[in-house]
Amino acid sequence: MSTPAATISHPPYLLRTPRLILRCMQPEDAARRKEAVDSSGEHLDTFFRTSPEGRLSLDGHAAHIRKSRGGFDLDQDRVYGAFEPETGRLLGENFLLKRAGLGALEVGYWLRRDALGKGIATEMASAMVKTAFEFDKVLRMDLVCNPANERSAAVARRLGFTFEGRLRDRQIAAHHIRGDILCFTLLSTEYPQTAASQLQLEAFDFLGRQVTP
Ligand SMILES: CC(C)(COP(=O)(O)OP(=O)(O)OC[C@H]1O[C@@H](n2cnc3c(N)ncnc32)[C@H](O)[C@@H]1OP(=O)(O)O)[C@@H](O)C(=O)NCCC(=O)NCCS
Repeated sequence: MSTPAATISHPPYLLRTPRLILRCMQPEDAARRKEAVDSSGEHLDTFFRTSPEGRLSLDGHAAHIRKSRGGFDLDQDRVYGAFEPETGRLLGENFLLKRAGLGALEVGYWLRRDALGKGIATEMASAMVKTAFEFDKVLRMDLVCNPANERSAAVARRLGFTFEGRLRDRQIAAHHIRGDILCFTLLSTEYPQTAASQLQLEAFDFLGRQVTP
């Protein structure tokens, strides 16, 4: 007999989609994150801007995970690692960020180089969109990217986001390069018509219990 689904009072910590496990990061993921970033070479150099000392060390990745995991537990920004179920490899990360304002979340993502071009980012972002509208009950989602980042803009369009405009001279985080950004949005009234609303998704809470919206 299956356990009845619990009602949720906090965000899902683990999500299962057809090809991925998306979950809150753990200390042992630091080595996986370093391998994913290091093996991606120049592909992620703009996203993870390298310092004069070179690429991020294991301790640097651990510090990042510690900070993002803390934010997750405090109902602030949420970072979900995207793992390949068969191997446990980290394929990338996706984010639900609060800087979009009240009643809204911003979705973000990156993929390791050898996972590009298979629709993995679209699947990850669809899971974020579904979680934000169905569990967090947001009214709007934002997605922003650099004007040169055509692959990211393509993900936004594939997800059914509307291009709102090019915002001039922005720096929305300390590690970003200052410049124009493209802004896309999806409203809760539009969400039911998107492919994300049809995504097969299972969600589990902090205690590992399956949860429904
Ligand atoms: C942005 C980024 C995540 C997009 O990755 P991506 O591989 O282009 O996106 P997807 O994984 O959704 O794959 C889409 C491609 O897979 C193809 N595809 C194959 N199977 C698919 C499926 N089941 N569903 C959707 N697309 C599929 C699509 O046709 C598309 O092909 P194309 O690139 O030839 O047009 C990636 O470029 C990246 O990590 N960039 C660096 C970090 C970054 O810029 N992050 C965003 C900051 S705003």
